[in-house]
Amino acid sequence: MKNILCIGAGYVGGPTMAMIAKKCPEYTITVVDINEDRIQKWQSDTLPIYEPDLKPIVEETLNKNLFFSTDVSGNISKADIIFVSVNTPTKTFGIGAGKAADLQYWEKTARQILTHSNSNKIVVEKSTLPVRTAEAMERILNSHDKGVHFEVLSNPEFLAEGTAIRDLMNPDRVLIGGHNSKSGQEAVSELVKIYAHWVSPEKILTTNLWSSELSKLVANAFLSQRISSINAISALCEATEADVEEVSKAIGTDSRIGSKFLNASIGFGGSCFQKDILNMVYLCEYYGLSEVANYWEQVVFMNNYQKQRFVTRMIKSMFNTVVDKKIVILGFAFKANTGDTRESPAIDICKQLLEERASLTISDPKAVKNAKKDLEQFIDQIEFELDPYTAATNAHALAILTEWEEYKSLDYKKIFDTMIKPAFIFDGRNILDHQKLFDIGYNVYAVGKPELSHL
Ligand SMILES: NC(=O)c1ccc[n+]([C@@H]2O[C@H](COP(=O)([O-])OP(=O)(O)OC[C@H]3O[C@@H](n4cnc5c(N)ncnc54)[C@H](O)[C@@H]3O)[C@@H](O)[C@H]2O)c1
Repeated sequence: MKNILCIGAGYVGGPTMAMIAKKCPEYTITVVDINEDRIQKWQSDTLPIYEPDLKPIVEETLNKNLFFSTDVSGNISKADIIFVSVNTPTKTFGIGAGKAADLQYWEKTARQILTHSNSNKIVVEKSTLPVRTAEAMERILNSHDKGVHFEVLSNPEFLAEGTAIRDLMNPDRVLIGGHNSKSGQEAVSELVKIYAHWVSPEKILTTNLWSSELSKLVANAFLSQRISSINAISALCEATEADVEEVSKAIGTDSRIGSKFLNASIGFGGSCFQKDILNMVYLCEYYGLSEVANYWEQVVFMNNYQKQRFVTRMIKSMFNTVVDKKIVILGFAFKANTGDTRESPAIDICKQLLEERASLTISDPKAVKNAKKDLEQFIDQIEFELDPYTAATNAHALAILTEWEEYKSLDYKKIFDTMIKPAFIFDGRNILDHQKLFDIGYNVYAVGKPELSHL
């Protein structure tokens, strides 16, 4: 079992397979995608995604034991193990629209695997999927009697964009779910064997299929719940002049609570959190668990409220109007160290400001190309400028929407001198030295903190 295929060359498929190729030189790994441009970029100097430390790994393995191709069917027939890492977005139409997972890409892949397989295969769910998807996959794969056995495993991916290589190199755990049958357990062992090249045995957890599928949704639900919880508290802090950073520290030092994911901000983004939590909400509704569904749905409501609240505070503090005012957006990616803008809170915040007829200048070290696509319908009201200093000239306000390290060390005095007064700064990530900014002359608004205003 040495031929691995991965269907889907995205943020998960590309880095994950590059890591397996690096750590398992005796395996041949092919990554296929229907998107020709993506495949061509994986083979070029400019990778299709930005991820720190990814490039050297691809360079080390490319065309040695890591291959990229658009030939999906030809590569299916050669593979022993097939990872399926296609996108599973929220459904936008029909039953379950806005909540349920759209499994069309997933199902098409299953049918393609069936059509082009002439030998036994292990099919690994890498995409995040609703619980019991493996059952549907098995039904499709076994719908023709080709004398071929398909064993379906669940192996959800826990990497976070921006730290994908670190997470893959040293994962907190690898989760593998399989059937309890003999062939199920044999397949689990084959997959364990791959990860055991670099992950210690106690970190490789094996479970039943449904626990594995559900655990991925629950992990993302818990992570986003923590963000919404601290963001809810940030609203209470602003109302009471408590400081959310001090509150986070005070509660995070309690070892039962822990300090991670307690930074108040403009809210979570990314392609996964909202989609996975809504997917779980839909599942709860499907199983008649409306109380459970309502409980988790609040996490998404709170996230939307936080973005709305940030914009409202901006408008209110700038004398209740932003019409024709130049506002500089520093950071558009959904988090630092990625160019990914999927579900970025910056999208909603910018749209709301544009609807208020502000004139925006958007700056981001990696995400400007995606920002242009995301805000296509407002393109006449926006300028894009990579250099923050040039962007800030004649601006009324700066809004930090992504926690890029470089924004911490900008010369804010130099920027202040070129801005229209009174100058405002809205720190949506709480990464700046607010007292220092206030002393320079800015009116400073940070999330969950008392305002520092000269007005
Ligand atoms: N992005 C993350 O941080 C992350 C983390 C963990 C899990 N996940 C999950 O992993 C899955 C993939 O996410 P992603 O961010 O890599 O998505 P992505 O959109 O970046 O990549 C998916 C790729 O699959 C390709 N594809 C779709 N249908 C295909 C088909 N029939 N044949 C060949 N290729 C096909 C698309 O062209 C696309 O390039 C999703 O289920 C996601 O929820 C993502």
